[in-house]
Amino acid sequence: MPARSYLKCISCNADFDVHDKLYTCARCGDLLDVTYEFAYDRDYLKRTFRERRLSNHPLDRSGVWRFRELLAFYDDPKHIVTMSEGNTPIFLAPRSARYAGIHKLQFKHQGLNPTGSFKDNGMTSGVTQARALSARVVACASTGNTSASMAAYAAQAGLLAAVFIPAGQIAFGKLSQSLDYGAKTLQIDGDFDAAMQLVLELSKETDLYLLNSVNPFRLEGQKAIAIELLEQLDWQPPDHILVPGGNLGNSSAIGKGLKECYDLGLIDRLPKLHVIQAAGANPLAIMYNSKLTTLPKIGTAHTLATAIKIANPVSWKKAVRAIEWCQGSCIDVTEQEIADAKAIIGSDGIGCEPASAVTLAGLKRLVEASIVDKDENVVAILTGSLMKDPDYTVNYHMDKLYEKAIYHTETISAQGHIKASFANKPLQVAADKIAIRKLLGL
Ligand code: F0G
Repeated sequence: MPARSYLKCISCNADFDVHDKLYTCARCGDLLDVTYEFAYDRDYLKRTFRERRLSNHPLDRSGVWRFRELLAFYDDPKHIVTMSEGNTPIFLAPRSARYAGIHKLQFKHQGLNPTGSFKDNGMTSGVTQARALSARVVACASTGNTSASMAAYAAQAGLLAAVFIPAGQIAFGKLSQSLDYGAKTLQIDGDFDAAMQLVLELSKETDLYLLNSVNPFRLEGQKAIAIELLEQLDWQPPDHILVPGGNLGNSSAIGKGLKECYDLGLIDRLPKLHVIQAAGANPLAIMYNSKLTTLPKIGTAHTLATAIKIANPVSWKKAVRAIEWCQGSCIDVTEQEIADAKAIIGSDGIGCEPASAVTLAGLKRLVEASIVDKDENVVAILTGSLMKDPDYTVNYHMDKLYEKAIYHTETISAQGHIKASFANKPLQVAADKIAIRKLLGL
């Protein structure tokens, strides 16, 4: 166990007890980190993490808690709520590599988590802290994945879950999950940013426990994405890691995980961390492009990658810090680039939801700009499962994907056609063997 774990403000350095129910600094209002005074031997950690892979203990079966020395904020392991999250594979993706113009690309697929997204990594630690603080009701604003994950973990923990989602703006796969897992699902008349504002205010005025990524305990589990990745690569860091950016919690967490591994001597250099946003939801990319020092206001966010349709990301300062630690970048990509990249990832037999595909689209751009070299080692994080948003995928392959459209069994009105450059259209054929043989060349 580390000597001490505490909450520390990223701006004024004020520190607080981990048992204080705080989301932001009580002194200056800025974001908080869970901070540790680690005193570990590097080889002991490497050996222990590896040995736990052979164990059937529930904490060792988790791709988060297997690394529990690095998340030692909890007093009582009985508070831990785990669904064997993490443990996600790394896939080689030759077609995607070729598309981006590099020799070797690997995807770490966080979509293979219990609820189909990387949010489970953070929810196990967030709900654990909720239990440690004896919370009764947990809440979040969400574009769909956080709510699905929180609903599942709250159900496992016996807590009441209240999710705040923008009405009509989240993918059906995700909505179905929070309904099925028994969460009170509040469809807010407004976008994610409005829902976030509401739930933030309510968390200060009532005793509901906020589980958005502004809560630093969420990010502790999510940082295990980086730790697990490095362990899977035998602690040989890749040259570049790419991650989608929405509310910017994940990039913040991955940056923290990488930095802690570096400071502990588990790796001897930091990979470059690149955050990729959708062009219609790109405040951090604008900030980097225009060399601004604060996040610009972009008005309302627009993108079919609804998971990252966010104008006012809460964790932007931590994401900036992560990019600086890891000498990375932040860029944005268009709807057409996202859709095509998603189809290419699919053609590797991997697949993902639209928000995850910004990574491949962004990689192509970074290669073209000579920021990534064709011989370098790249890992992109796929954040959500293909099955989260099947409508998007089917519409693309049917050449019916539009930036703005109203669908009702068929398209009623549509604008901004997205070209199905890599479509794999379904084939209409008579229920007739000869016709089928002819079609398949058999
Ligand atoms: N990819 C997916 C599939 C997501 O669901 C999200 C965020 C992101 C990327 C971006 O991660 O916000 O940490 O920068 N989804 C949140 C939600 C906002 O409510 O499910 P981020």
